[in-house]
Formats: sequence, C-alpha cells, structure tokens
Amino acid sequence: MTTVPDLESDSFHVDWYRTYAELRETSPVTSVRFLGQDAWLITGYDEAKAALNDLRLSSDPKKKYPGVEVEFPAYLGFPEDVRNYFANNMGTSDPPTHTRLRKLVSQEFTVRRVEAMRPRVERITSDLLDQLGDSGEGDVVDRFAHPLPIKVICELLGVDERYRGDFGRWSSEILVMAPERAEARGEAAREIVNFILELIERRRTEPGDDLLSGLIRVQNDDADRLSADELASVSLVLLLAGFEASVSLIGIGTYLLLTHPEQLALVRRDPSAWPNAVEEILRCITPPETTTRFATEELEIGGVTIPRYSTVLVAGGAANRDPKQFPNPDRFDVTRDTRGHLAFGQGIHFCMGRPLAKLEGEVALRALFERFPDLSLGVDADDVLWRRSLLLRGIDHLPVRLEG
Ligand code: HEM
Repeated sequence: MTTVPDLESDSFHVDWYRTYAELRETSPVTSVRFLGQDAWLITGYDEAKAALNDLRLSSDPKKKYPGVEVEFPAYLGFPEDVRNYFANNMGTSDPPTHTRLRKLVSQEFTVRRVEAMRPRVERITSDLLDQLGDSGEGDVVDRFAHPLPIKVICELLGVDERYRGDFGRWSSEILVMAPERAEARGEAAREIVNFILELIERRRTEPGDDLLSGLIRVQNDDADRLSADELASVSLVLLLAGFEASVSLIGIGTYLLLTHPEQLALVRRDPSAWPNAVEEILRCITPPETTTRFATEELEIGGVTIPRYSTVLVAGGAANRDPKQFPNPDRFDVTRDTRGHLAFGQGIHFCMGRPLAKLEGEVALRALFERFPDLSLGVDADDVLWRRSLLLRGIDHLPVRLEG
C-alpha cells in the first residue's frame, strides 16, 4: 500500500530534495498531507510551470465557494481581521484585481527606484562587514544576512530607524508554519499589521520621497486608487516579501559557496560571474520552496486530474531540480545555464522584487567574500540547521570563522 507523504514529517525534512526527487520520478503531481489537510504537490518542472500559468488555479484566499472552507496554509493562526490585511495585495489576488494592483504598484516600485538604492546597499553592506570584522568570528546570518535586507527595505519604504520595533522578530515568527506555534504566529501577524497601519498614518502626515509615500500618492490614468486595505496589504507584502527571501538568499549563498570552494574560486577569478551565481544559488536551494494555489474548478496537469476546490502546492524548489530541465540538477554550478528557473515564480505573479533581490544578493555576497578571503564555516556543514518551512526555506544561524 502506498502512503500519502506528510510534508510535516521528520522523514520529509531530513533530506527534502531526495524526497522531492523520488516523488517527481513516480508522480510529479501527487496528493499529500500538509498541516492536517489534503493537498496536491507538484514537483515536475513542466507541470509546475503549467500550474503557475493556469489561472483556474487561484491565488486569492478571499474568494468564497458555496459550502467550502478555503484554507491557505500561509494564514495558519491568523485571526480573521488580520488575515484581511495580508490578503489584499498582488500576491493574493487574481485578475482583474491583480492586474489593477500590479499596475498601480509598478508606477512607484520601479527599476529606477531600486537602482538608485545601489550606493545605499553598498554602504550598508560595508558598515555591517566592518562590525562583523571587529569580532573575528560570528554568525553571518544574525549579523549580516538578516540586518542587511531589513535596513534596505526599511530605507526604501521610508521606515525610520526609530520605528523599526520588533519587526525582524515578528516576521521570523510568521515563517514558522507549525500548528503548535499557530497562536504566536497570529500574534506576530497582528503586531506587524498594527506596525504598518501606524507607519502609513505617519507617512500620510509627513510624506517623503520614499516608496510608501509614493504608494499613498499613487493614482493611475483611470483615477483609480489603492483602497486603504489594499495600501496596507501592499505595504505589508513589500516589507515582508522584500526582505525575508533576501535573507535566505544571502545565508544560503554563503553556505553553498563555502561548501563548494571550486565554485567560489570561479567567481573570485571572474567577478562578472556573480549575477549568474546568484541565480544558481536560488535554483539550487530555492527559498520560496512552494507557492500555494486553490483549484477553482477540476483541471488536469501532467495527465493527473486535480479535483475542484483542492489546495495545490507548486514546488518551484523541486521543479528547479528536475533533470529534464537542468542536467545534473543536484550539482551547484555557477556557470550553468540557469534560465527558466522558477525561484522568482512564473507568469502573472512573477516576483516584482527581482531587481532588488539580485542587487542585494550580488553586492552582499561579493563584498563578504572579498572582505574575508579566508572565511570558513564555524560548524560542520552537516550540522547546519535548515528552517523547516515550505513557505521559505533558509538558514537561521550560520557560525563562521573570518580568518584562517
Ligand atoms: C531572493 C529574493 C526573492 C525571491 C526568491 C522571491 C520570490 C518570489 C516568488 C516565487 C513570487 C511568486 C509567488 C507566487 O507565484 O505566488 C514572488 C512574488 C512577489 N515578490 Fe518576490 N522574491 C524575492 C524578493 C522580493 C523582494 C526584495 C520584493 C520587494 C521588495 C519582492 C516582492 C514580490 C511581490 C510584490 C510579489 C507578488 C507579485 C504578484 O503577485 O504579482 N520579492 N516573489
């Protein structure tokens, strides 16, 4: 008898890429258990791409279906009113609302605005590396990978240093998707909503040239505006999406390069290889390992029928290791052709923050390895603890030695 895999089990997380590979070989679209629910897991590349482009798979947890309780795992533990603030942005809408929100936000969240941040990203990086260097050793996630994107996104959005509160802790709490932490997760979500609402009020009365003030002003050709709920939700998603995945990228990138010295030597010899190295880090260990969708009608993917009202977990992380798309996929190779990887998604929800994430990843990793040529892991590679989160895989602590 075959058993349905449970995505919360210890055996799944011991070597999750091996489990994904086994599933992909036998059934790239398969039923699983996740957080006490039945769900469908997609691990094949073609199947994942097809799913992300199929608009019958909804991203909107607000939609109601007669007699059906829609549960998006990302909202585990969130009280109803808090959920509403999380669910009114591009990532949680289908067309036409998605189209309207994305267009409005794109007017302010431009590549130009991100590129203008480059000197600040370099400065913040350099200051954090100075502080790390003073100690001789330390935790590269705590002291570098984590504070760097927080500082960057707060400056971009216009969150004054004085008002940053416990924002880092709240968001870490939200990443843990375990039923026993559901209450703490809900509380953290409420704190972060209150934080964003206060911030918006402050910016309304004291506007600046930051992104949040821009979003408050935003108005498109149809004189359409963001509603108050949408403004709060969009700001929230930019703040949260805008740093947690980048923290994972920098932490995972440090780990991969330290455990593959021949790959590190390649980027050191040829710094123009950094942009592709960052893409390869994201392909090899994809932080947003799964994205969630909800089947609004029965549909077929990869020859498998997914019933109406199913929760579907599209595992971009698993798809990025599909040998049909990426030869020898378990090999970390900064020179490989990374085109088509799904770490930034696919289709209408493709990541809006890619230019910022790439900027942060390239600046941070290059500067870290240039500043500390003898950097090495402070623990055995096998003892590094990986976050058990399908929402966002990552490393919470990574002790390093700065000198040989
Ligand atoms: C390494 C860093 C990052 C990764 C791997 C990443 C990955 C992703 C993925 C996979 C999606 C699609 C989700 C889906 O299909 O449901 C997405 C969407 C999104 N990302 Fe990112 N992201 C990163 C950084 C950022 C940053 C820095 C920002 C903004 C400051 C950002 C803003 C967004 C937004 C607003 C969306 C929703 C777009 C839409 O639904 O139309 N992301 N991201």
